[in-house]
Amino acid sequence: MTAVVLRPDDAGIARAARALAAGRLVAFPTETVYGLGGDALNDRAVAGIFAAKDRPRFNPLIAHVVDLAMAEDLAVLDARARTLAARFWPGPLSLVLPRRAGCPVSLLASAGLDTLALRVPRHPAALALLAALGRPIAAPSANPSGRLSPTSAAHVAEWLGDRVDIILDSGPSSIGLESTIVDLSGARARLLRPGGLAVEEIESAIGPLDPAETGDRPRAPGMLESHYAPQLPMRLDADAASGEESLLAFGPAAPDGGRACLNLSPTGDLAEAAANLFAYLRRLDASGARAIAVMPIPDAGLGRAINDRLRRAAAPRPARRA
Ligand code: TXA
Ligand code: MG
Repeated sequence: MTAVVLRPDDAGIARAARALAAGRLVAFPTETVYGLGGDALNDRAVAGIFAAKDRPRFNPLIAHVVDLAMAEDLAVLDARARTLAARFWPGPLSLVLPRRAGCPVSLLASAGLDTLALRVPRHPAALALLAALGRPIAAPSANPSGRLSPTSAAHVAEWLGDRVDIILDSGPSSIGLESTIVDLSGARARLLRPGGLAVEEIESAIGPLDPAETGDRPRAPGMLESHYAPQLPMRLDADAASGEESLLAFGPAAPDGGRACLNLSPTGDLAEAAANLFAYLRRLDASGARAIAVMPIPDAGLGRAINDRLRRAAAPRPARRA
């Protein structure tokens, strides 16, 4: 596949929206950087984003929404969130918020977490695409893992041109720096990533932010990252479940596990497995079993990201921070 490069005129937007609705990927301009977009409600499309980026792990993605009303449908906005949204949306600010009960956004886009990052972009092409699709668009920056965020359609074409259907070309990004990310899921607002909106501006609206980096003791890089952790203990590389375990199976050779068995992909398709991963883990976690046994997953392509999350979910838990 080689991406078609389109101008974001009416015809280009309509074609890109149709591609997204069909589960395909579209790179599109925002005022910060170009995004690699997929239908945020479609697990397979979201799995395709991770595959296209070659990310070795599932970092949660930002869901782009057309306006505050669409944001309110997906997440719970408190007074701080409403203040920031009123002042800075549309714009280069992403808010991490609690997912609303029944939130239809793919759990894979949240990497299994109970929170969702939301942003209303300011770029007219991004807003037109969101309006045409009528759904949120999950989009990380449109670069392969380990490369700089792209600020032109040419950058996107160079690195991801064979992995997306359409690239909407609107010239260079005006800001050229990713959005500022503020975590409002806890009592204290936390800066997760400095970016295109100055921290001072945010603090003038809602008061001081906790910097993500500070704490009473130094933490190793990576420890800040929160990840999905089931209540039940997990046993990896299992052939089958023992009496009190439920089974997260994979592939055609899976035993017929009965009630508490879910197969991530009976055909052994890693994209299908990624799409099902967090929803199935949650279901097994609530199945009444004592533990979750997990069959081995091939450690290639999306399998690496799946195994990364499974290892983290199986790791002994450090005491939770307040
Ligand atoms: O400007 C931007 O933000 C661009 C454009 C395309 O909107 N997007 C972008 O996405 O930079 P990405 O995936 O490259 O960076 C998103 C960051 C990641 O570091 C991710 O860990 C964090 O947002 N993030 C997303 N959802 C989160 C959540 N629920 N909790 C904590 N962090 C989250
Ligand atoms: Mg990025």
